[in-house]
Amino acid sequence: MPPQILAVGNLKGGTGKTTLAVNLAAELAGKRKVHLVDADAQESATEWFQLDGGLPFTCEALPLDDPGEAAGWIARITTNPADLVVVDLPPHTGAATAAALILADLFLVPIGPSTLDIRAAAKALDMLTEAREAREDGKPAALLILSKVDRRTAAGREIEAALHEMGEPVGPMVGLRSAFVDAASGGSWIGAYAPRSVAHQEIATLAAVAARILKGKKHGTA
Ligand SMILES: Nc1ncnc2c1ncn2[C@@H]1O[C@H](COP(=O)(O)OP(=O)(O)O)[C@@H](O)[C@H]1O
Ligand SMILES: [Mg+2]
Repeated sequence: MPPQILAVGNLKGGTGKTTLAVNLAAELAGKRKVHLVDADAQESATEWFQLDGGLPFTCEALPLDDPGEAAGWIARITTNPADLVVVDLPPHTGAATAAALILADLFLVPIGPSTLDIRAAAKALDMLTEAREAREDGKPAALLILSKVDRRTAAGREIEAALHEMGEPVGPMVGLRSAFVDAASGGSWIGAYAPRSVAHQEIATLAAVAARILKGKKHGTA
């Protein structure tokens, strides 16, 4: 069976894509074989993996810049022996994002606390709509994730309200927490670095929602 595919993307850098991709891949690896595809030519996920902090999945750098090479890129991912492939996407509307949207079962869009983030996310959702129209299976499902946000601030609350008006389901949020940065510095992930932290709880909650969607149950249903 080909693996299920979870893509993490937004058309803006620094929104927490790589942080979310690595931590979710690690959390989901507790119950299934996970492979992380680093599709960003900047290779942040690959570098994180190479710090040898014991991340519980396999990882490969697989950038895609030329749309003419998309077929080979897609074949490489769909023939991976893992149960789940997590794809960490680059921050632009390149070939990798388009190809990942054609493949993905679930598209996660981390959105940071600024109006620029909301605008970039709106463009990513346009690409999502195009991909759904091109496919016949209604996929990918999507989840908007409020990322790096301090909910106690007015800006955080405003962004959260804006997310709910974007027409896609809003998943559990990921707060602005230094533990994510500290875990990454040592090549680790939050579940190994600080298993009882609120940060880990957020990742576990989000992973459970993602797993439910991948199983074919809708967000919010038991
Ligand atoms: N939830 C978070 N809380 C605090 N810092 C974060 C969080 N998510 C990401 N960061 C930090 O923000 C920076 C950009 O995050 P990254 O995941 O690399 O974003 P992207 O892949 O979207 O460019 C990194 O230094 C990372 O450690
Ligand atoms: Mg990144």
